[in-house]
Amino acid sequence: MSALEKIKTICVCGAGTMGSGIAQIAAQAGFKTIQFDVNETMLEKSKTSITASLQKLVEKEKITEAEKNITLARLSFTNITEACKADIIIEAIVENKEIKAALFNKLASINNAETIFATNTSSISVSEIAASTIVSPRVAGMHFFNPAPLMKLVEIVRGKSTNESVTETLAALAKQMGKTPVICKDAPGFIVNRVARHYYLEAMFLVEKGLCTIEDIDAVMEATGFKMGPFKLMDLIGMDINYSVSNIVWNALGKPERLHPSPIQKDKVDKGALGRKTGKGFYKY
Ligand SMILES: NC(=O)c1ccc[n+]([C@@H]2O[C@H](COP(=O)([O-])OP(=O)(O)OC[C@H]3O[C@@H](n4cnc5c(N)ncnc54)[C@H](O)[C@@H]3O)[C@@H](O)[C@H]2O)c1
Repeated sequence: MSALEKIKTICVCGAGTMGSGIAQIAAQAGFKTIQFDVNETMLEKSKTSITASLQKLVEKEKITEAEKNITLARLSFTNITEACKADIIIEAIVENKEIKAALFNKLASINNAETIFATNTSSISVSEIAASTIVSPRVAGMHFFNPAPLMKLVEIVRGKSTNESVTETLAALAKQMGKTPVICKDAPGFIVNRVARHYYLEAMFLVEKGLCTIEDIDAVMEATGFKMGPFKLMDLIGMDINYSVSNIVWNALGKPERLHPSPIQKDKVDKGALGRKTGKGFYKY
């Protein structure tokens, strides 16, 4: 029996932008899926959004009405920690090491000795999260991209103490979800967020210096083949999340000038203009 054949239940913690999409693809991939969040409103929003997303797939004839109903029947939504019993826990909660580790420790005490703990962190060291838990060999990164149901890439991050079987199981899970897993080492920003930092920072630097407008930069980058210009992308990701990633990567690499977080973005975060999720970021929605 392969490691993945033993996996029946997945618990996705956090019902926000990422958690909602991850829960949808876990259920679509055939797993009993528990979505957990401390905030009931977020759970309701997630349920509505997953139902609407599956309905769109029915309308586009990508899935049948029966498949939609089976997928929805695999999903449950809860704000009760004790209900989070699963073979794999995938957390997509707030980007904070202590809070993530505390959740894993709490869930470790109610789960069995084989449960895997995957973090969707964008920028926190997986090794450091793992080291703050009582289950470090079973902690790894499983970094989905936004929007999770559409984006193919998943970075599987091996922390210093992660068991190889854990990363292999997570890579197999990502494949079962129709994704392309790439196993990478634990380094600040992993691969994509490290390389893409310049895409955001240089764009904001040009605007800061008054050399270009955000509209021009987005238009130019899209014309060269990028699916989204940097400002539209930051609005999609969420200004708070993107700014926090910049700060974490900058600090982890010893504060190099080339990766200095942007004052323009800090100002947006301070004003609560967080992008699409608040109706206003670099653009209005
Ligand atoms: N937004 C992106 O584009 C993106 C992409 C990849 C990875 N990530 C990472 O995914 C994670 C979640 O990001 P998001 O954008 O979905 O955030 P979000 O703010 O949309 O959602 C976070 C959710 O977590 C819940 N939550 C907070 N603390 C909790 C706890 N202790 N237990 C249970 N639920 C809790 C909140 O109520 C909220 O619903 C972060 O680690 C982020 O870095 C985000």
